[in-house]
Amino acid sequence: MTKICCIGAGYVGGPTMAMIAKKCPDVQVTVVDINEKRIAAWQSDELPIYEPGLDEVVKETLGRNLFFSSDVDQGIRDADIIFVSVNTPTKTFGEGAGYASDLQYWELCARRIKEVSTSDKIIVEKSTLPVRTAEAMERVLHAGDNPVHFEVLSNPEFLAEGTAMADLEHPDRVLIGGHNTATGQQALQTLVEIYATWIPRERVLTANLWSAELSKLTANAFLAQRVSSINAISALCEATEADVGEVARAIGTDSRIGPKFLHASIGFGGSCFKKDILNLVYLCESYGLQEPADYWRQVVIMNEYQEARFVKTMLHNMFNTIAGKRIAIFGFAFKADTGDTRESPAINVCRALAAEHAQIVVSDPQAMENAKLDLPELADQIEFEADPYRAAEGAHAVAILTDWTLYKGLDYQRIYDSMSQPAFLFDGRNMLDHQALFEIGFEVYSIGKGLKTHLK
Ligand code: UDX
Ligand code: ADP
Repeated sequence: MTKICCIGAGYVGGPTMAMIAKKCPDVQVTVVDINEKRIAAWQSDELPIYEPGLDEVVKETLGRNLFFSSDVDQGIRDADIIFVSVNTPTKTFGEGAGYASDLQYWELCARRIKEVSTSDKIIVEKSTLPVRTAEAMERVLHAGDNPVHFEVLSNPEFLAEGTAMADLEHPDRVLIGGHNTATGQQALQTLVEIYATWIPRERVLTANLWSAELSKLTANAFLAQRVSSINAISALCEATEADVGEVARAIGTDSRIGPKFLHASIGFGGSCFKKDILNLVYLCESYGLQEPADYWRQVVIMNEYQEARFVKTMLHNMFNTIAGKRIAIFGFAFKADTGDTRESPAINVCRALAAEHAQIVVSDPQAMENAKLDLPELADQIEFEADPYRAAEGAHAVAILTDWTLYKGLDYQRIYDSMSQPAFLFDGRNMLDHQALFEIGFEVYSIGKGLKTHLK
């Protein structure tokens, strides 16, 4: 029986391993983590992350061929294949601070693997890493006269939160990079066989290690760039009375451009886009490539501009003062169907509103706990209210910051009637029926469409 160990029971490691366990009953999968609370949560009815469809898969496989453990060493020792799926956040200190990836958790894992392994192993990079990380890891793994052979592969994860289970079950592609050596190719084939259990072979792409590592950063940079591109156009739309939805539809039907990731918004969030682009910027700079670095940095600058522009628009439309005004925030997660708030635009939007002395009420169906942790410094100015109707009571404005489907189905007449007048609605996700809201009586702003106002 093939034994897999995954180090890191987070947003990537947990769902990915649950899917492998489901699809490959002959493979034993153990997920280990130093965070004992997290491991206990994976074994309980209350999983540590919210992901549609995940509960069912964990229920089906837990104790059959999926195990969670905080005994990292045992997990490593027993495994033939070790996936490393630990966090690689942006460095906050020293050289490359604010840009480069912090590889300390990765390196600690590599050292642990070397320390406790007594048999040959395939090491799979799942975490997003700078290109050529495998080279450094191989040096760590093979330092000294350890007789054990480690073969490093890169198998970046392309799943998106909220749709992780569907993405894992029917991925556009799986990418596996390995060395062009006999042992490298053999290891690569071992991993290809696992994925080929449920993924058509033509979708399992193989590449050299460095291409696989760089492809992950590049994919996220391209996706984020599309969001920043349409957001840049949204600002121009508001200045010219063009409608960003119509522009996106018109360009998206060009098969060379395609319709996805053209939805203008308050900006992209999530643990990947900003971190990966900054990592790419740092890599370009460290290879002396200033113009490519500046090109990609602009995608992040554009995103910050879009968040700031949203708050400025709120302020200017609300008669240039929001001091003391109650503002209801609908949605704090960085996107729908997740409780994750990492790099959520809502964080910066709330900070900027608080700087204008607004009274903020945050509502979100999944992200309230994380939201509370994100803004401890605003305790005086922020309330948390799960029920959106109660959050909106007496508010001068509602701002939609996350595209939760439930916000489409609310009774906006009831919300309007309970608000201070004139009642503003700022749709940061362009997801509501703006004409219907306007007819109820709202002052309605949406990204790339501007303000519909009764106050001429
Ligand atoms: C992303 C990549 O999609 C995934 O392949 C990679 O493995 C990890 O990073 P994720 O961060 O989970 O996944 O979310 P994604 O769906 O890509 O959305 C990122 C952000 O962009 C969200 O804040 C989302 O609201 C925003 N977005 C996305 C837009 O504003 N407009 C769009 O058209 C699409
Ligand atoms: P991602 O979104 O990439 O999955 P997370 O932060 O959700 O990132 O998960 C990473 C997990 O890796 C965390 O639960 C963390 O405790 C775990 N981790 C970090 N370093 C180690 C280590 N040296 N050994 C085991 N687990 C680790």
